[in-house]
Amino acid sequence: MILHLLLCLLLPLLPNSSAQTFRNITLGSALSTLDENPYWVSPSGEFAFGFYSIKGELFLLSIWFAKIPLKTIVWTANRDRPVEGGSKVELTSDGVLSLTNHTGGEIWRAESSNATNAASAAVLDTGNLVLRSSDLAILWASFDEPTDTILPGQTLDRGSKLFSSISDEDHSSGKFQLSVQADGNLVLQSIARPTEGTYDPYWESNTEDTQSRLVFNESGLMYLITPLNGTRFDIATEIPVSTRDFYQRATIDFDGVFRKYNYPKSSTNRNDQSWSVTWYVPGDICTVLTGNVGSGACGFNSYCVLGQDERPNCECPPGYDYVDGNNRFKGCKQTFAPQSCEKDQLRKAFEMRELVNTDWPLSDYEHFLNVDAEWCSNTCLDDCFCAVSIIRGSECWLKKIPLSNGRRDPSINGKALIKVGNSSFPTNNTSFPPNVLPTPDLHCNEKRERQHKLILPGSIIIGTSLFLNLLLLVIFLSTKHKNHKSNRVTSSSVEGNLQCFTYKELEEATNGFKEELGKGAYSVVYKGVLRRNAQGLIAVKRLTNIPEEVDKELKNEMRAIGQSNHKNLVKLLGFCDEGTHRLLVYELMIHGSLAKFLFEMPRPSWYKRIQIAIGIARGLTYLHEECCTQIIHCDVKPHNILLDESFTARISDFGLAKLLKTDQTRTTTAVRGTRGYVAPEWFKGKAITSKVDVYSFGIVLMEIIFCRRNAAIEVGREDPEILSEDVYDAYVQGKLQLLLGDDEEAKNDRRLERMVMVAIWCVQDDSSLRPSMRKVLQMLEGAADVPTPPDPFYLNSTV
Ligand SMILES: *[C@@H]1O[C@H](CO)[C@@H](O)[C@H](O)[C@H]1NC(C)=O
Ligand SMILES: *[C@@H]1O[C@H](CO)[C@@H](O)[C@H](O)[C@H]1NC(C)=O
Ligand SMILES: *[C@@H]1O[C@H](CO)[C@@H](O)[C@H](O)[C@H]1NC(C)=O
Ligand SMILES: *[C@@H]1O[C@H](CO)[C@@H](O)[C@H](O)[C@H]1NC(C)=O
Ligand SMILES: *[C@@H]1O[C@H](CO)[C@@H](O)[C@H](O)[C@H]1NC(C)=O
Ligand SMILES: *[C@@H]1O[C@H](CO)[C@@H](O)[C@H](O)[C@H]1NC(C)=O
Ligand SMILES: *[C@@H]1O[C@H](CO)[C@@H](O)[C@H](O)[C@H]1NC(C)=O
Ligand SMILES: *[C@@H]1O[C@H](CO)[C@@H](O)[C@H](O)[C@H]1NC(C)=O
Repeated sequence: MILHLLLCLLLPLLPNSSAQTFRNITLGSALSTLDENPYWVSPSGEFAFGFYSIKGELFLLSIWFAKIPLKTIVWTANRDRPVEGGSKVELTSDGVLSLTNHTGGEIWRAESSNATNAASAAVLDTGNLVLRSSDLAILWASFDEPTDTILPGQTLDRGSKLFSSISDEDHSSGKFQLSVQADGNLVLQSIARPTEGTYDPYWESNTEDTQSRLVFNESGLMYLITPLNGTRFDIATEIPVSTRDFYQRATIDFDGVFRKYNYPKSSTNRNDQSWSVTWYVPGDICTVLTGNVGSGACGFNSYCVLGQDERPNCECPPGYDYVDGNNRFKGCKQTFAPQSCEKDQLRKAFEMRELVNTDWPLSDYEHFLNVDAEWCSNTCLDDCFCAVSIIRGSECWLKKIPLSNGRRDPSINGKALIKVGNSSFPTNNTSFPPNVLPTPDLHCNEKRERQHKLILPGSIIIGTSLFLNLLLLVIFLSTKHKNHKSNRVTSSSVEGNLQCFTYKELEEATNGFKEELGKGAYSVVYKGVLRRNAQGLIAVKRLTNIPEEVDKELKNEMRAIGQSNHKNLVKLLGFCDEGTHRLLVYELMIHGSLAKFLFEMPRPSWYKRIQIAIGIARGLTYLHEECCTQIIHCDVKPHNILLDESFTARISDFGLAKLLKTDQTRTTTAVRGTRGYVAPEWFKGKAITSKVDVYSFGIVLMEIIFCRRNAAIEVGREDPEILSEDVYDAYVQGKLQLLLGDDEEAKNDRRLERMVMVAIWCVQDDSSLRPSMRKVLQMLEGAADVPTPPDPFYLNSTV
């Protein structure tokens, strides 16, 4: 029964479940986004062509790898013009493949390039979509109009181009291009979007041959054939692998790197199930872009650091923040008010912060010789045009906004001094954004203080904490309270980015509330499938037995949750507030919680664990600093961290706990003094700041590193073994290896000690010693040095 139900729910979403394989798409065949399976698959089932749903209930007409969980797109017809539901693609009676939107307007078409009309179409096993004549001659091929990817068997002739996407999520045309130029040179260039004007190449093959072609052959080798010159130019040296054993692709990624990927076809090991990079060009994207226009690898005002995974990360210098928290490649903006050029302005309002090995080599406007660092720094401070000064030996450069081509690399030498607003300088102006204001300490249970620093209730998926449910109730009650007359009005006034669902819709989505995922005092969570949502699978939380309690602030908080949006947070999609029904709709996180992943399964790979730790740190940094209002989670633990289909960490339950946890922790479990994930200041009646999350993160980080639970609260032993204490002892004695058992991956990784040191910094009893989450993130990513941590239990043992 349950199995049956599961199948019912999953079927419409599985790519190769019941779709037919189309060897021959005949004239008159059509697909609509409203079809149950809006795609045709190749005879082998490995590729599908049809409608691929993306964010915002839009669709791309694409070709993708259909047999792997990550349905990776390899080609798109309408990347810059996604279509809405109701759109259609048809092979018309005169042999034209035509994409029309829901109002019937043509968005894209493919047709024979000569007088012969197409008689049929087919998705070939190579991933090529072709229009064919009646004698099967190919009249048009998607391989001839590539987007950002080429596949084995595909060649790029002179004049062919690949364009990167904007990001992993946004498939529209981005700012990098790969092209086989007329003179036979293969080049990578950045583009001056929105035009197609190009900047100087940052990588080139330097081949000269007017007949050169880029070949990606079926053994996965890629080279330029230069028939006139005779020699062959290999893009990379690689051991050939068969397309029988591996899916392969080469993509110019959104970060401008051209990467070759393999994916094993028959993998039983869950951890292998991802694309692995076999080679890439250029070697270091952070430093190869040198043109004097354009922003470089990252956006303006940021700097690029090559991460441990050899991918570029874009960082903001102190005093700057991401223009778009969801796309760090879009650059950084100043978070302080600009400096006035009046002579009498106060020097005190600005200060210089140091960044080592960092430079923006192309933003100079002054260059001084034979000066010292102090002179250079003060000159910048006094000059309202100056954003950064660079000191190298006795030379000094002043740099202007926007800073471009930023990079951090040990080869840079010298240091950068960034001018930032002095955050301790008193100001009567609120133009300073909240994240550069000193954070006032605040007590969770004193509501009056929350006027300026709201603590926002968060979304949950399967979280069943009593507090959360209470809060959610209150949200509903408060919204109802204000708008007695109409539920509709109530709903839309709260919505923000949230969708409003009818009860009937959710009843259908959950098949009559059949499959239960979890249960709490005031709620039950059900699994469901939503037709109108692109991703389909949802978790529906149904609230019951709502106690009478109303708090007027909460409506705003609900709106703010709807606005918080980050790839490391679980997203609240919408709600239903109809009659007596109160339901919340979330994305379903199919891999469950981090607790299950770490403690109940075979040990996950070290690499995945590091990615998860960094993901959590990113999510918390967003909540603390990048969200519209600071959100302190207060209940960071592996049960509240969920994993999505690509095992990306997604924080749930954020916000709310703080409001209500105080009573619980301080009155009940707290007294026992058990160290769980809870920072010591909870027990001491001290003010609660975002540093409580840093503490909890430190404990979780240790659990991730060692795949071991920190002492559980219910441990009845007199003297439970506390992971954090064991870790510190082992660290001091240089014996971390002993705690790792047979985890050779972790033992052999030089990042191990660094991660342990970061964790020890996070669990300092003295909250003022703990770094901010942003700093933690930088240390984890290798962008900031990790000093030797002190004994975290120092306070405890002396007080
Ligand atoms: C549908 O496509 C046509 C033609 O491209 C366009 O003019 C029209 O605005 C589109 N309709 C919608 C709703 O996007
Ligand atoms: C059109 O192209 C196909 C495939 O290249 C070829 O077989 C056919 O002869 C061409 N027809 C005309 C009329 O040129
Ligand atoms: C595909 O369909 C066309 C048109 O109906 C027909 O002429 C052709 O023979 C078919 N090809 C195959 C391989 O079935
Ligand atoms: C062969 O390539 C070299 C450099 O790659 C170039 O100088 C030369 O002109 C090419 N010869 C021909 C015949 O294209
Ligand atoms: C791919 O190219 C390499 C090198 O030329 C060759 O050894 C190999 O046989 C080719 N593979 C296929 C499937 O053509
Ligand atoms: C920043 O402002 C504070 C308060 O006015 C002041 O004490 C401090 O000296 C200033 N810092 C600098 C570097 O001017
Ligand atoms: C505060 O604001 C007033 C008027 O807007 C201005 O004259 C004064 O200089 C400001 N004080 C500070 C410390 O910025
Ligand atoms: C604060 O600064 C902003 C921009 O710098 C300005 O528009 C605003 O009038 C200022 N407000 C006060 C009260 O000084």
